[in-house]
Amino acid sequence: MKENTFTMIDNQTGKRYEFDVIQSTRGPSAIDISSFYSQTGKFTYDNGFTSTASCKSEITFIDGLKGELRYRGIEIGELATKHSYLETCYLLLNERLPNKQELAEFDLEIRHRSLLHESLRHLFQAFPAGAHPMATLSSATAALSTFYYDHLNIADEDGYQEMARRIIAKMPTLAAFAYRHSIGAPFIHPDIERSFSENFLYMIRAYPGGTMRIELEGEKKIKDIEIEALDTIFTLHADHEQNASTTTVRSVASTGAHPYVAISSGISALWGRAHGGANESVIAQLEMIGSVENVDKYIAKAKDPNDPFRLMGFGHRVYKNFDPRAKILKGLQDQLKDELQLDSRLMEIAHKIEDIALHDEYFIKRNLYPNIDFYSGVIFTALGIPRSMFTPLFVIGRTTGWITQWIEFKKDRTMKIARPRQIYIGE
Ligand code: SDX
Repeated sequence: MKENTFTMIDNQTGKRYEFDVIQSTRGPSAIDISSFYSQTGKFTYDNGFTSTASCKSEITFIDGLKGELRYRGIEIGELATKHSYLETCYLLLNERLPNKQELAEFDLEIRHRSLLHESLRHLFQAFPAGAHPMATLSSATAALSTFYYDHLNIADEDGYQEMARRIIAKMPTLAAFAYRHSIGAPFIHPDIERSFSENFLYMIRAYPGGTMRIELEGEKKIKDIEIEALDTIFTLHADHEQNASTTTVRSVASTGAHPYVAISSGISALWGRAHGGANESVIAQLEMIGSVENVDKYIAKAKDPNDPFRLMGFGHRVYKNFDPRAKILKGLQDQLKDELQLDSRLMEIAHKIEDIALHDEYFIKRNLYPNIDFYSGVIFTALGIPRSMFTPLFVIGRTTGWITQWIEFKKDRTMKIARPRQIYIGE
């Protein structure tokens, strides 16, 4: 029997089938079942792809049991505390961190590419007042493809890099325009004198003419600690291997569609409350619970198999330990609570939920821990980010991961169109 193979026996016929094993460099190896149907005449079934590897990737590694996350081999804690979001973008795209000169050039290019074609403004105006920014953001991102059709036929590394840097640079502006339209405020164009994360806060807060809010004691500047907090949060959201929205992006990439409509599809998939939309739902849930006295009642609802209520921000398909990003955000919350006047009432309710859940058999047995969305909302609220913009912020951070995964897919000549089969149970 060959080493590095996996044998299966069909107990109905006694027939033995042998499949190659594909070795990983970290984490589980995989049984190559691409010949399973042709050998056995049967399909495999894996609801939600809990045991299925959809691709080979060198970008992000997650160890769900240890609660470990690495981008290009570098541990998330090191990136979140010692490097900026733009350094992380460069790392994901180029497989290494930039030197000082490379970072300066990358930063400058991103600033210059942050502007949008003027006619995109009219697109936003077509949406009703109060339109949710995730709907307008997904539409505007798809519309961006109409300005850059050359990205459909990228032939070399420079073409991939330009396409990627363009969408990374423009996503904060698209998100800010989506927000400003949702509140009926005039658009604020990016100020290329400001850094990536500062510019986003500027575009959602500034008054026409670029002035910030004036208080009695003078203009309310954007604080350094706010810029750093947002930059860290973007880094924590940058990529996360083959989650639902990245799988959507890769699936659209597999048909040969434009990269920006693939990203638009990723935005749509992320919006669901089971995925990136959870960050918006967590705050709504904490406000609905209202006080620490009510926590027990809602924990009981979450445990009741007949009650569809779920604790938003809890549980994860891969992490069966603390989500390392949640740990970093929790530390950031504690660090910011005085500087940014975090909502102590919501934090108290969140900590009470966490404390009860982490000692309750129902959650322990199912390895349910707080995930990244459990803590981000309180910080976003303290940054003055409106709740409807929580998931668009997730989009800004994740755009880098999506486009890096899209490029990896396109460069892998062995990848095929995504076309699963089914178990037919009809007439
Ligand atoms: C993100 O995949 C990624 O990497 C995503 C993400 C990324 O960076 O891209 O990390 C971002 O999407 C984080 C997850 C945000 N979503 C939420 O916080 C929503 C609440 N969480 C759940 O909906 C759920 O935990 C999921 C969707 C996150 C994971 O679902 P799974 O892996 O399919 O787990 P499951 O539904 O099979 O649940 C297993 C058991 C079930 O109980 P039993 O049927 O075994 O009795 O755990 C229970 C579930 O009922 N359960 C929960 C629960 N989550 C799971 N019970 C109460 N509250 C919850 N939150």
